[in-house]
Amino acid sequence: MLPTALTSLLVSILGVFIAGPDSEHRPQFDPSIPSLLKLELRHLHAVSPDARVLFSDISIPHSLRVQGNTNTSYTIQPRSIKTYRPPSFDAYSRARTRSLRFGQSESLDWGEEDILGPDVERREVLLELAKMTNNAYVEPEDPAWYPLDQRWNTSHRFGWEPDADGFRGRVFATPDNSTVVVSIKGTSAGLFGGGGPTAKKDKLNDNLLFSCCCAKVDWTWTPVCGCYRNGWKCDQTCLERALIDDSLFYPIGTNLYNNLTYMYPESNIWIIGHSLGGALASLLGVTFGSPVVTFECPGERMAASRLHLPSPPSTHHITHVYHTADPIPMGTCNGVLSSCALGGYAMESRCHLGKSIIYDTVSNLTWPVDIRTHGIVNVIERLLSEPWAPSVEVGREVPEAKAEVDCVECYSWEFGDFPVAK
Ligand SMILES: *[C@@H]1O[C@H](CO)[C@@H](O)[C@H](O)[C@H]1NC(C)=O
Ligand SMILES: *[C@@H]1O[C@H](CO)[C@@H](O)[C@H](O)[C@H]1NC(C)=O
Ligand SMILES: *[C@@H]1O[C@H](CO)[C@@H](O)[C@H](O)[C@H]1NC(C)=O
Ligand SMILES: *[C@@H]1O[C@H](CO)[C@@H](O)[C@H](O)[C@H]1NC(C)=O
Ligand SMILES: *[C@@H]1O[C@H](CO)[C@@H](O)[C@H](O)[C@H]1NC(C)=O
Repeated sequence: MLPTALTSLLVSILGVFIAGPDSEHRPQFDPSIPSLLKLELRHLHAVSPDARVLFSDISIPHSLRVQGNTNTSYTIQPRSIKTYRPPSFDAYSRARTRSLRFGQSESLDWGEEDILGPDVERREVLLELAKMTNNAYVEPEDPAWYPLDQRWNTSHRFGWEPDADGFRGRVFATPDNSTVVVSIKGTSAGLFGGGGPTAKKDKLNDNLLFSCCCAKVDWTWTPVCGCYRNGWKCDQTCLERALIDDSLFYPIGTNLYNNLTYMYPESNIWIIGHSLGGALASLLGVTFGSPVVTFECPGERMAASRLHLPSPPSTHHITHVYHTADPIPMGTCNGVLSSCALGGYAMESRCHLGKSIIYDTVSNLTWPVDIRTHGIVNVIERLLSEPWAPSVEVGREVPEAKAEVDCVECYSWEFGDFPVAK
């Protein structure tokens, strides 16, 4: 059946990376180009059924038992980028709560910083990052999971199947811990088939965050919230309340990030992710000012505003990489007969924060629009492994990253204050 096949393709979402500069230098030393970062796999991370963030350490003998691909280290060319950080997570959360509860905006004292981020103009960098988000190759046997707050006393039994549900991923670090990369993949057992204790909730949240109005695709759908009114009207307040009441999506990410900064207090943390994991990575990038690279991420701009995330002066430290044949980032996986709808999802959002590197595979490679092009393996093997001719022609390695200005989504809906008629 279709939904099962879709499940495995669509599930990748969350990941974490850790890395740091090392002593290798490029052959011709140019002080303006930072030296290569060599990242090695340090931990796996996952979310337990009771929504706690769990880690598992990867020891060297452990990683040698990894099947299939034994490569657990990656080399990335960094470059200097500008980012904005809130004064503290507490200050950020306070401003967010104020906006959420009382509709008041509070100006935050954003700090501008120059830090090392991945050089997203290079194809090799995108390829390495994409490989780091693909943890399907690494299946350690029986990892010992621990929650950070009881680190030395508990060892949880917890599954690690590549297509199991929930956010999970890997943490990479440079040998000196200066750079840490978190990859985030998968979510929502729900996301196309599957099961699991949080699946139902995740699916609900995905539909709240990435559909226009409660995933009411048409009259045959049972909507996930009751905020739609007659004539394509949607009650904004109701929508935001539904999200806040139920969503674990964003808090799981902020817990993960806060746990990582506890483990690596001095490190420069990057966040990468595929699909919904990319969306979570981006929201964390907005929150913490970390460099972010996502692959095939659904439009997350609407989710950021529904979650009332205070917005930094610029989000250009966030880069999305996707191609036009994938209906998820394009926001076209939403017809009643679409594969997403068949899986119980309405992926209707299409606008992204930050900048986007868009490969026009429909025009240039004549790929048909198909959910099966969404998988990270497809992106690695069929898109990033080869030079991209249209870019090479103009002396670039990858398409130019551009902000999605004038992006419009959910235009058939009218959002506003539409209380239920008594
Ligand atoms: C780690 O995250 C959990 C939530 O999963 C939180 O309760 C805990 O306080 C965090 N620990 C640290 C040290 O940040
Ligand atoms: C592992 O890395 C080496 C060198 O970095 C490369 O030659 C080899 O093809 C890689 N193996 C796999 C399975 O990717
Ligand atoms: C671990 O937890 C058990 C009971 O929960 C307690 O008796 C034991 O002292 C703890 N061990 C350590 C090292 O904290
Ligand atoms: C890097 O961080 C880990 C904690 O995850 C620590 O065990 C290790 O000693 C650190 N290495 C360096 C070089 O600081
Ligand atoms: C794809 O791009 C290359 C380089 O610009 C061009 O030569 C080729 O004709 C394009 N293919 C299609 C089908 O448009």
